[in-house]
Amino acid sequence: MPYNKSFKLTEEIFNFPLREIKRFIRDFHSEMRKGLSGRKSSLKMLPTYVKKPKGVEKGESLAIDLGGTNFRVLALKLKEKRRILILGSKKFVLKKKHITGTGKALFDFIAGCIKTFMDEYKIDISEKHSIGFTFSFPMKKRRVSSGILLRWTKGFKARGVEGKDVVKLLNESLKRKGLRNTKVVAIANDTVSTLVAKSYEDETCDVGAILGTGTNACYPEGQMIINIEWGNFNKIRLTPYDRKLNYLSQSPGEQILEKMISGMYLGELTRLVAKDLIRDAIPKTFKSEHMSIIESDTSKNLSRINRLLKKLRITDSKYTDRKLLKKICAMVSTRAARLSAAAIASVVTKIDPYLSRKHTIAIDGSVYEKHTGFSRRISATLKEIFGRKTANIKLSLTKDASAKGAAIIAATTDEEMILT
Ligand code: BGC
Repeated sequence: MPYNKSFKLTEEIFNFPLREIKRFIRDFHSEMRKGLSGRKSSLKMLPTYVKKPKGVEKGESLAIDLGGTNFRVLALKLKEKRRILILGSKKFVLKKKHITGTGKALFDFIAGCIKTFMDEYKIDISEKHSIGFTFSFPMKKRRVSSGILLRWTKGFKARGVEGKDVVKLLNESLKRKGLRNTKVVAIANDTVSTLVAKSYEDETCDVGAILGTGTNACYPEGQMIINIEWGNFNKIRLTPYDRKLNYLSQSPGEQILEKMISGMYLGELTRLVAKDLIRDAIPKTFKSEHMSIIESDTSKNLSRINRLLKKLRITDSKYTDRKLLKKICAMVSTRAARLSAAAIASVVTKIDPYLSRKHTIAIDGSVYEKHTGFSRRISATLKEIFGRKTANIKLSLTKDASAKGAAIIAATTDEEMILT
């Protein structure tokens, strides 16, 4: 079949028209209701035991952030007037051996990083310090100071952690490193920290979302913030490429929406499509970040794409193939952005079915922040869905939020939520 003709067919199956978006939203609501009432659902709707902050919280604390490619430690100070100061921050690279070895090795490494940070910033370890822990995985919680890992996502697979309280594991590692007075007092998902951080300064914020290596969102249901774990939503029409990616993945059947949206998988999905439609096989080193470079190449000869392909060891690409690759990238990421918009629309209309008031959606994550055109496509799709009412939805890139949020939550644990 001529290449262009088969591209047209592929483009058709990757389409996500308004009609399907509307069905997506209905199914999403139905899964949300099932999850909330404890019935079987692809949306877990996990209680977090965290509520939106009042903006008057004060204090100093440490914050740590685990869940992507890096691990971060920060020292923060909450000031009056809804201001947060970052006193210090350090990034540590997580190696494969850390995320695929034993849980003990992972948490000992993290505790070691915290110790290094405290030494570097001359923080007196004999004094008491509380840590707010942003842990970007699904957790079962009964209070703010504990979190049982339900299962790893995003390629993490440290042994002996699923089913355990990660706060306990880390506090034990901290003790082993000699940090007897430094304790994790609060743990939250990254979406929750993001929502808390943004709503500390903006009261209309009621959704926290991550579009990065993984994807997810949370929102308040009454007082309690609920972690939706939307990456696992599975009432979606899949293309043969989605099925293949899912089948070949580390976790078949899980995180279906995440596999269509997030940075961990978009590159691989594109590679699988390209393998079918383009003569030169794109290597496995092809990443989601490359898609953004490809999509933003507006040069006449697509020379940036050519340079990138050379780096990927494809030395003699044809112009027509480069053009086709650009189209494939745009097709895969456009669908991802439209799916993200559909998920956001589902959450906002769960909170406020007629969009009768203003909603700020705090969003963080590399795909949203860095992928060319991604945020624009989300906004355009929301407009398609809501028309003029979209004016009531404000998407707000909220950087560093997961650390700030963890610090706010740590500073307010004395007001801990009681089991309801
Ligand atoms: C995890 C979520 C997390 C999201 C974004 C997903 O893989 O299951 O808990 O919020 O990634 O980091």
